[in-house]
Amino acid sequence: MTTTPDTAIILGTGLGKLADEITDTICIPYKEIPNFPISTVEGHCGQLIFGKLGAKDIMAMEGRFHYYEGYSMQEVTFPIRVMYELGIKTLFVSNAAGGTNPGFEIGDLMIITDQINALPENPLRGKNFPTGPRFVDMHEAYDQQLIRQAKTIAAEKGIKVQEGVYLATQGPTYETPAEYKMFRTWGADAVGMSTVPEVIVANHCGIKCFGISVITDLGVEGKIVEVSHEEVQKAADAVQPLMAEIMREMINRA
Ligand code: HPA
Repeated sequence: MTTTPDTAIILGTGLGKLADEITDTICIPYKEIPNFPISTVEGHCGQLIFGKLGAKDIMAMEGRFHYYEGYSMQEVTFPIRVMYELGIKTLFVSNAAGGTNPGFEIGDLMIITDQINALPENPLRGKNFPTGPRFVDMHEAYDQQLIRQAKTIAAEKGIKVQEGVYLATQGPTYETPAEYKMFRTWGADAVGMSTVPEVIVANHCGIKCFGISVITDLGVEGKIVEVSHEEVQKAADAVQPLMAEIMREMINRA
């Protein structure tokens, strides 16, 4: 490998196509990496990509691991440990989420300002790894400077962005109306099934985090309709170019 990236990106929902823009690639299928779990979700292919996005050396995860697939929290976050060992300093993530903020619309992009762990477990439970302290500070789980920069980039490009708190549940069910309502009262603006474990471990490793959610459905009273994975995917695909534009520029400046 000729590159030594300090920037990693998890190509979650809404960012999959960014993989096609990476040049000078070296791809390593997860199944060839010792101890790496293998992605089971349709549409996620499962490999690490090393290469260049624009002029920047990056490492990308194509396909991520979810707790609902049956992996342990340690397995879900194992790739972050690998990133740390490879010298990654900044992590960019994307996901799809249901909006609980009544001001949100389907297709909105939400810069994640903070998170709530509503999964049944914390990935740092158990023996502490020497990458960080036993009790991890989480007062700035998402880097404030990166958030400011994203807002500037969005304004420069005329892309509408929302900001808010992302809450992760274990899934795989979408929420009942009562659950959306409860999460809203807890302070969540959007609800999804990923990201939070990875960001916890990244914080433990001293890796700066930045994330964007695509709002693919609404968990807002009066606006709740049936949700399907296909519709979530369709809503995310529609806004993918805008998400990619922000991320591409963020990574360029990282
Ligand atoms: N809830 C949980 N996860 C999701 C949702 C949702 O409404 N939309 C997309 N991912």
